[in-house]
Amino acid sequence: MTETPITSTNSGKVFDATAQFTQDLAPIHQFIDYYFTKEEIQGKTVLDAGCRVGDYVMAMAEKGVVKASGIDLSEDCVKVAQQRTQHIPNVAFYQGDITQMTQFENDSFDILICVGTIVYLPLPQMQIALKEFFRVVKDGGIILVLFQKKKGLILKLVRWVANILPLGLYKILVNIFAYILIPIVGFFAGRKVNLQTAKYLLIGLRGLYFGIPDGVSEEFRIKTITLEQCSEKSTASYKIKVKK
Ligand SMILES: C[S@@+](CC[C@H](N)C(=O)[O-])C[C@H]1O[C@@H](n2cnc3c(N)ncnc32)[C@H](O)[C@@H]1O
Repeated sequence: MTETPITSTNSGKVFDATAQFTQDLAPIHQFIDYYFTKEEIQGKTVLDAGCRVGDYVMAMAEKGVVKASGIDLSEDCVKVAQQRTQHIPNVAFYQGDITQMTQFENDSFDILICVGTIVYLPLPQMQIALKEFFRVVKDGGIILVLFQKKKGLILKLVRWVANILPLGLYKILVNIFAYILIPIVGFFAGRKVNLQTAKYLLIGLRGLYFGIPDGVSEEFRIKTITLEQCSEKSTASYKIKVKK
């Protein structure tokens, strides 16, 4: 089965369509508390690589960080992130590509999280993004990155359909497909989703790559938390301690 390659540039355009979706911050707090101790976060600088509308940045800002920053390819999402955090002093958002974060000097952050974003890069580009993550994180810092595990034929087929349809038509069809997806996610990914999440997941299927690039050591693998957006069944989590 051949797939239409979705480049990182048009992946941003796809996610412009999700700029109106904001997430409940409670599960994001749960996510952060699961992956990080208070000591690891408090007083630190954090970057969310692929921040969309800033949900994780907002949650991080409430956890005693010195500064929480986010970068995303989608101009519309970054604008929404900036608007909704105008009242929060210790946040900053940048429009840009995680494979080329020219905005940031070497060793700029203590922590980098990449949730549901590196998965929009083909495997060789994932390697480039990982190198960028190591460049911008300080020695002794932490990189948390979540990959999509390899998937079966049915999901590959759905992704193929998502990739070949024109974006405008696909966005209309998502409104119908979302109702069908809710029970399917329950069965295949082992978690419950609501209608908005189902639509978001369907839009997110466009350009999604499954698999983990070579060179990511299993030493850093940790169990994935089960939430609407991820579970151990579908997602592989790596918490990497940076040594330079
Ligand atoms: C599924 S969303 C995840 C957003 C957020 N991390 C979360 O978990 O809610 C994926 C995001 O990755 C962004 N993205 C995709 N490719 C990117 C790239 N090369 N550089 C920066 N952002 C990218 C998209 O614009 C989108 O906002």
